[in-house]
Amino acid sequence: MNKLVINGGTKLKGNVFISGAKNAAVAILPATLLIKGVCTINNLPNISDVKIICNILKELGAKITWNNEHEITIDTSSISCTTAPLDMTSKFRASYYLIGSMLGRCGEIEVGLPGGCNLGARPIDQHIKGFEALGAKVELNQGKILAKAKKLIGTSIYMDVVSVGATINIMLASVFAEGTTTIDNAAKEPHIVDVANFLNTMGADIRGAGTDVIKINGVKSLKSSGSYTVVPDQIEAGTFMLAAVATKGDIIIHNCIPEHLDCITAKIIEIGGNVEDLGDSIRVWCNKRPNKATVKTLPYPGFPTDMQPQMGVVLSIADGTSIINESIWESRFQYTEELNKMGACITAQGKTAIFEGVKELFGAPVYASDLRAGAALIIAGLVANGQTELYNIEHIDRGYENIEEKFKALGANIQRIS
Ligand code: UD1
Repeated sequence: MNKLVINGGTKLKGNVFISGAKNAAVAILPATLLIKGVCTINNLPNISDVKIICNILKELGAKITWNNEHEITIDTSSISCTTAPLDMTSKFRASYYLIGSMLGRCGEIEVGLPGGCNLGARPIDQHIKGFEALGAKVELNQGKILAKAKKLIGTSIYMDVVSVGATINIMLASVFAEGTTTIDNAAKEPHIVDVANFLNTMGADIRGAGTDVIKINGVKSLKSSGSYTVVPDQIEAGTFMLAAVATKGDIIIHNCIPEHLDCITAKIIEIGGNVEDLGDSIRVWCNKRPNKATVKTLPYPGFPTDMQPQMGVVLSIADGTSIINESIWESRFQYTEELNKMGACITAQGKTAIFEGVKELFGAPVYASDLRAGAALIIAGLVANGQTELYNIEHIDRGYENIEEKFKALGANIQRIS
């Protein structure tokens, strides 16, 4: 079993380079199924979720060449199979993008129900509502989803909840639908814009991504060749921003888009940290104990739920009592029990947690319950007095590339032990 051993107490200093966005990559890769040809995707993060989805695409008949650890050339000219391997698809959440892509490409797909982080109930009713509105038949049976469509016809779809996954999935399914599809109350996250940009680069006609109304005018086919660069990871950049604040460090985060980080920047300034926009990089530093704050997670451009655990670590050592209201996921405070083992004083009930700020944390053996919880516990280990052993780090490897190497480059004392 791999673990991270962290000796805390170092103020982070120096430069870190952000990888391509996980949540964009895991949607763009299935989107290549809509191209009957070859395309090159670069700035892919070197993470396990990307490797799994590439393996699934190979099983469906795609040919993939890794040009280097961040770039693939993928040939989806011939798709030989419409059943995605159930054991692979049920390992991660974004396997649901195979449904939208394959409905568009082949009019048929069977996949396992998506897995991913355990954050409470993760329904896909809005995805199904969208596919059915476009004319598909969707059956759920014994942990599998079977979706079929003779023909997809554009229509208006109103999302009952703002859903990143459903917005992207309906976009994918409607690229070739006859006529115009309108998604109302769409999610606006940067990776939604990135998937739309990728599809438009390849010849799709998608307008309004990044606003709450997206219109997709169906096209007959996409280009048979092209290349695309994945957007930088907003959440990875935000994780390093909060690590700098928590450790009273001073770092420059390169290869990021500062506007995507506005909500995190605003909170950092509110709690007494400093942020300087340097164009395609951002400097973050903090000289004092953070102030208390109230945080509510919301769809973009609100404070991201995927930054909530990292912010929880900062507030656990803030001066005063803070409150976090988690409005997206019902079970995203599991990390607070681990933080309490490190000396934090957090009471979590339902979707609210109260953080009575303590002056210091202490190293302890702790367990990552999911991807972002794992990243948060690394930050806690960096702040704590003494040694922290962090287990279940395979969750972290799903979404962060070389995380310990990036922290080491900032001066952290962190080792991976196999
Ligand atoms: C994506 C992200 C995840 C992030 C989340 C919210 C990926 C691969 N994962 O997950 O990291 O935490 O956005 O920013 O991009 N909902 C429904 N019915 C649906 C779909 C969603 O009720 O059909 C609800 C969910 O229970 C949740 C909310 O809508 O309360 C948002 O979920 P959604 O945006 O769909 O999250 P994911 O796409 O799964």
